[in-house]
Amino acid sequence: MIELANIEKSFGDKKILKGINLSVDEGDVVALIGPSETGKTTLLRTINFLEKADKGTIQIADQVLDVNQAKESEIIDLRGKTAMVFQNYSLFKNKTLLENVMEGLVIVQGIDKSEAESIAKAEIERVGLGHKLDAYPKEISGGQQQRIGIARALALKPQVLLLDEPTSSLDPETSVEVLKILKEVAKSGITMIIATHEMAFAENVSNRVVFMEDGYIIEDGSPDQIFNHAHEQRTIDFVQEISRDIFEEGE
Ligand SMILES: Nc1ncnc2c1ncn2[C@@H]1O[C@H](COP(=O)(O)OP(=O)(O)OP(=O)(O)O)[C@@H](O)[C@H]1O
Ligand SMILES: [Mg+2]
Repeated sequence: MIELANIEKSFGDKKILKGINLSVDEGDVVALIGPSETGKTTLLRTINFLEKADKGTIQIADQVLDVNQAKESEIIDLRGKTAMVFQNYSLFKNKTLLENVMEGLVIVQGIDKSEAESIAKAEIERVGLGHKLDAYPKEISGGQQQRIGIARALALKPQVLLLDEPTSSLDPETSVEVLKILKEVAKSGITMIIATHEMAFAENVSNRVVFMEDGYIIEDGSPDQIFNHAHEQRTIDFVQEISRDIFEEGE
């Protein structure tokens, strides 16, 4: 479904992605984990050309693009196969929840308003906020805003859902609400790549875990492999470190 080959990306003279190869099957739910500043966000953003990689090829479904030869129309086409959920929700403050979810359908996909409205309503209901269609983002909680961020992405009927730390701005209880919804979304069979620091989610919801460090994929395997029988010392160290962090937080 997704095939990344030799993706490299620098910002200024700092190389952030150092040759990423990743192959994701249809229906995979991939958790992308790793220390801060490792390139997880950058990798997600290069997949849909929000950030143009310097080198490499990106394949989604049957479309293969060499990042340096891709035409604007091809990029738009590829981007249309994806939708992204951002850490900070990035909803339009002056639009209602319904309008926020309709926006991409009408503006990007050119769907007529009445159809866009019925798709948007269905997706907002799916995330449990059907009673808030006319509310504005500031009138709902952060967790509810992120649920709208998810509805907005799903409304686009993407083949691939990219999520960048969707719960990291939320308190633990609210995170749980959002993670439950993502668990349901994962069951629907959509292909997902989720950068996350929620190890419970990575361990229990994803079927694959990709551990990234310092611009490289260090290890890619089942959750059981990564969390319990990692092959690479760096993976073992990272997993140990996060379990220690959790233990210390609990003290
Ligand atoms: N637009 C940009 N311009 C310059 N540097 C950038 C840009 N975006 C990211 N970087 C740098 O690239 C590095 C990797 O950032 P990235 O956000 O991909 O890491 P991350 O793994 O997602 O980290 P975190 O876990 O903290 O979200 C960081 O050092 C960051 O400062
Ligand atoms: Mg990030």
